[in-house]
Amino acid sequence: MKIIVTPTQPYSDQKPGTSGLRKKVKIFQLAHYLENFVQSLFDTLIVPSDAVLVVGGDGRYHNRQAIQTIISMAAANGFARVLIGQGGILSTPAASHVIRKYKTFGGMVLSASHNQGGIHGDFGIKYNIGNGGPAPEKITDEVFAKSKVIAEYKISDLPQVDIDTIGETQFAGLAAGQTFTVQVIDAVQDYADLMQSLFDFKAIKQLLATGFEMKFDAMHAVTGPYAKEIFVNRLGAASESLMNCEPSEDFGGGHPDPNLTYAEDLVKIMFAGENALDFGAASDGDGDRNMILGQNFFVTPSDSLAVLAANATLVPAYAGGIAGVARSMPTSGAVDRVAAKLNVPSFETPTGWKFFGNLMDAGKVTLCGEESFGTSSSHVREKDGLWAVLFWLNVIAVKQMSVEAILKAHWLEYGRNVYSRHDYESIPTEAANSVIAHIKAQFASLPDQVFGNYTVKLCDDFSYHDPIDGSVSNNQGIRVLFTDGSRIVFRLSGTGTEGATLRIYLEAYEPDSSKHHLDAQVALAEMIQIALQISQLVEKTGRVAPTVIT
Ligand code: G6P
Ligand code: ZN
Repeated sequence: MKIIVTPTQPYSDQKPGTSGLRKKVKIFQLAHYLENFVQSLFDTLIVPSDAVLVVGGDGRYHNRQAIQTIISMAAANGFARVLIGQGGILSTPAASHVIRKYKTFGGMVLSASHNQGGIHGDFGIKYNIGNGGPAPEKITDEVFAKSKVIAEYKISDLPQVDIDTIGETQFAGLAAGQTFTVQVIDAVQDYADLMQSLFDFKAIKQLLATGFEMKFDAMHAVTGPYAKEIFVNRLGAASESLMNCEPSEDFGGGHPDPNLTYAEDLVKIMFAGENALDFGAASDGDGDRNMILGQNFFVTPSDSLAVLAANATLVPAYAGGIAGVARSMPTSGAVDRVAAKLNVPSFETPTGWKFFGNLMDAGKVTLCGEESFGTSSSHVREKDGLWAVLFWLNVIAVKQMSVEAILKAHWLEYGRNVYSRHDYESIPTEAANSVIAHIKAQFASLPDQVFGNYTVKLCDDFSYHDPIDGSVSNNQGIRVLFTDGSRIVFRLSGTGTEGATLRIYLEAYEPDSSKHHLDAQVALAEMIQIALQISQLVEKTGRVAPTVIT
């Protein structure tokens, strides 16, 4: 094998966001764009001579080409072996598991998650460290710094590698006597085995065999093959229980984001009145998000996390109890109430799964979740869509209650943290920044101001002090906290690729069970108006309604 040192020019925009580097496909296709980023990453890492790299993606457009480039560059940068999911496929949680199971050096996940795919859509690359989780900011910051001054990258003269046939291909390594191996593994098997080891498959199988009707929507994305193996082959579900389970490079032209807006087909089935099924769920492009629906009933991700924490001991893997919980700041405090009752700690981190890694590695938390449809546990270091679906099925199988009944009982016991998120997508960056600046300018004057039934207690820009490594992350979202415990959070998304997305997170605690049936938009109507008043969003952006409400 020969190393080709190729001169290059830096790009100025390779700053990883909330979850890796995400750009339009056409940006990734610019000369040396991917190579620059990969070399900046390899130059940041200290790669030992026996290092193994996992590579897999969600199968979106550009996945295969990118994988060939990464293999060639890994060989030239001293990796001994690359583990690839068959066909270049690995869901994000499966990649995390493979990194952990085979104790590899790290892995690259090629995905833009829930963003649209296809030639006009998005592509992305994220590096995960040896614990299976997203690289922390100290690595991503250094990669960005290196990408701004890069002058050359190293690539090898390897031929195209067959990534569709399970098995090993060996090449002569960099030095005499060394080899470089590309190993293609079954993308599904290890992950399906892991799920079977965590949950009571016997109980779920029985539930599905006794008239309980479910529908899982893979949204034409990566979880299709995983769902077939787990639900149909291992749990005996009817094949009609699955929809959109053939992955495609453009996700069937859709937007693979499991929420009430984009998982429209599933939502129709689950809100079909008397004809609605018992249970519906969907996952996103790379399989780490989940949406849970009951019969004519939507479970907010924040409530989902709280319910799973409260019922964890019903699942074999967590029968001994949980060490603690963590949630991102904008996620509702519902899970905190469960933690308090269980007498375990709860942590509040910034948005981004990477912030949970240290807490899990230190054994401080078992379950984590985010309002952005992410839930998972320490079985991997990513959020895990199918895991959440199986957890719910396990709980339903044991409790023999409907999704709605489980939620109502939960609210009765803990009170309800009424919650909603309003997204304003693709607004001009300047307009979004001016909204944020406008709210910040009121930091001193807002406290003690009265808005209808609400009085502002304090407002700040959230900072996180990592209790494990002492690192500090500032500017993680604006919080307006009210005296009764309600709050409004304003935050700019770190995952979009077009203009800016402004998110408004609304939360109000309702202890009164006679009001628990209220639609969240109705219950939060006054807070929504306060959010618009404080932010002057309509005036500054010209937008009169959110793009997505969850
Ligand atoms: C990704 C990350 C999550 C994060 C979400 C929302 O899915 O993995 O951890 O919560 O993006 O990020 P955003 O910055 O768009 O609100
Ligand atoms: Zn995702």
